[in-house]
Amino acid sequence: MSDVMWKLRDDHKKLARLMDLIAREVRVFDAGETPDYELVANILDYTQNYPDLYHHPVEDHVLAKLRLRDPEAAANVGDLVQEHEKLGALTRRFAAALHNVVQDETLPRDWFVDIAGDYLTFQRRHMQMEEVVFFPAALRALTEDDWRVIQNTITMPDDPLFGDGEDQERYDRLHREILKWGKPQDVTDFAPS
Ligand SMILES: [Fe+2]
Ligand SMILES: [Fe+2]
Repeated sequence: MSDVMWKLRDDHKKLARLMDLIAREVRVFDAGETPDYELVANILDYTQNYPDLYHHPVEDHVLAKLRLRDPEAAANVGDLVQEHEKLGALTRRFAAALHNVVQDETLPRDWFVDIAGDYLTFQRRHMQMEEVVFFPAALRALTEDDWRVIQNTITMPDDPLFGDGEDQERYDRLHREILKWGKPQDVTDFAPS
């Protein structure tokens, strides 16, 4: 498998864990207790500073190549750029709601839980579509040369979850939380029914 695809899938594994962590905290909030607001804020901050800046643009490149190699398969993937924009908008809306709830705990709980649910559902469905439809099609259709061209075009900085940048303290905590979940948990999907 190309390094590019390996990295995209690895990003998804980490993101799936982070979504589970958010869902856990939202369940705490929904039960009327106080969740770990800081943890959720750090996850949203991470997603805006890493996947939004690096993971999604790489996928957009891969889809552009897939359009050349197999237009029909690319059409099945749909409008990835628009999905990434919507994901960014839902992340910002969730982050703003979180900020407001931290400032004012009397805000309606259902309102916040719905916003969190919209974000989690969209993020999870998006990743699932990519894993089931997009990535297999790209692996089938793209040539070695295509992957090399993408690799040479993109910027793939080290994931800050494992880096040593100035924000490291916050990200170290996320890293530890991910590791705590040594194996996937049997968590109930927090998607609103
Ligand atoms: Fe994506
Ligand atoms: Fe993705």
